[in-house]
Amino acid sequence: MEKQTIRDFDPAGKRVFVRVDFNVPLADGKVTDDSRIRAALPTITTLLSGGARVILASHLGRPDGKVQDGLRLRPIGERLSQLLRRNVPVTGDALGVGTQDAVKRMRNGEAILLENLRFHAEEEKNDPVFAQQLAEYAEVFVNDAFGTAHRAHASTVGIAQLLPAYAGLLMEREIAALSSLLERPKRPFAAILGGAKVSDKIGVIEHLLTKIDLLVLGGGMANTFLLAQGKSVGKSLAEHDRVDDARRILVAAEKAGVQVLLPVDVVIAKEVTRGTEYKTVGTEKFPASWHIVDLGEASRTAIEVALADVKTVLWNGPVGVFEIPSFAHGTRAIARFLDDRAEHGVTVVVGGGDSVAAIEQQGLTERMTHISTGGGASLEFLEGRELPGIAVLLDKPKAASAAKPKKVRAGANA
Ligand code: 3PG
Repeated sequence: MEKQTIRDFDPAGKRVFVRVDFNVPLADGKVTDDSRIRAALPTITTLLSGGARVILASHLGRPDGKVQDGLRLRPIGERLSQLLRRNVPVTGDALGVGTQDAVKRMRNGEAILLENLRFHAEEEKNDPVFAQQLAEYAEVFVNDAFGTAHRAHASTVGIAQLLPAYAGLLMEREIAALSSLLERPKRPFAAILGGAKVSDKIGVIEHLLTKIDLLVLGGGMANTFLLAQGKSVGKSLAEHDRVDDARRILVAAEKAGVQVLLPVDVVIAKEVTRGTEYKTVGTEKFPASWHIVDLGEASRTAIEVALADVKTVLWNGPVGVFEIPSFAHGTRAIARFLDDRAEHGVTVVVGGGDSVAAIEQQGLTERMTHISTGGGASLEFLEGRELPGIAVLLDKPKAASAAKPKKVRAGANA
């Protein structure tokens, strides 16, 4: 069901509570990746220019209900103020008399950012009193925090049950891009899945097997599949208790006619550290005391050949130890290859922190069809699960989303 968005109400003069996902990386009190903040700008500027009073709210990190100075939102407020070219004050607390007064004093076209919601344990508990306190700030609720849509918290679900609740423009874009992957992908459709653990992605793989033609596996999770194929992976990261799951997935893929591509060669290292000794080997004979840290050249070529004709690609997760530059080549090469495919008209959708970072570091964001701001949220969406933060938003009226209703003769139902 399609959701109502900020285009479906008049924001002029209204106090609008906007849940954003500003859970961004910080270092030395500065935002090191502002993509989630930039992604929320269309919603914020649309509401501000429409004359709303915008009360922004987010979590940052997992402070577990305690105030942690390192997780205050001040650096985020500063970055947001720079991007909006207007001052967005950050309150000292999400609740309290001072914050209530600050909200009351707001004028049309002004924005304020509440302090980290998760400094209150009630946020993650979806506490009804906390949700009510947040709801009292505003007349309308907007959820633009796609990255947090898989959490049923007070600021994503509780408040949406108390105020008319609309999707923001980022939320709308994420839903549209990910749904079209699941519902009407241009075929052939390939998924490239990496990252450390297969346990995080079993549900996604199983759901995708009914949609895709080709599955490329890399990163730590591919090691568990190599074990399932009877290969050894030495000391590499692998989930020995998930080998049966991996085997089951390989059988299901074969039944579904999905080609699975596993690494044929890999970069291995003595230790998973910078400056260690490393080399490329085939996956057939593996030295017992080494670790797999990246895809080898032959694996990269095999992926490029297999994906030459695909029309849609979903990529989630790095194919090597991306944090260490010597072992980031495979992940960076996939980013460049997908950029080239996107330039040739292929639909490319990317999600997950490190895959997105590989694209951003190389300045390749422009041509990608969609870069998701959701990590866990995009995976759960692609698993086919209903995300609580989306489910609770107002549905579009049926007549608007359905085909033109037939004319009914007056009195036909009488
Ligand atoms: C994320 O970064 O995935 C979201 O902000 C959700 O954060 P959480 O996993 O701490 O709920």
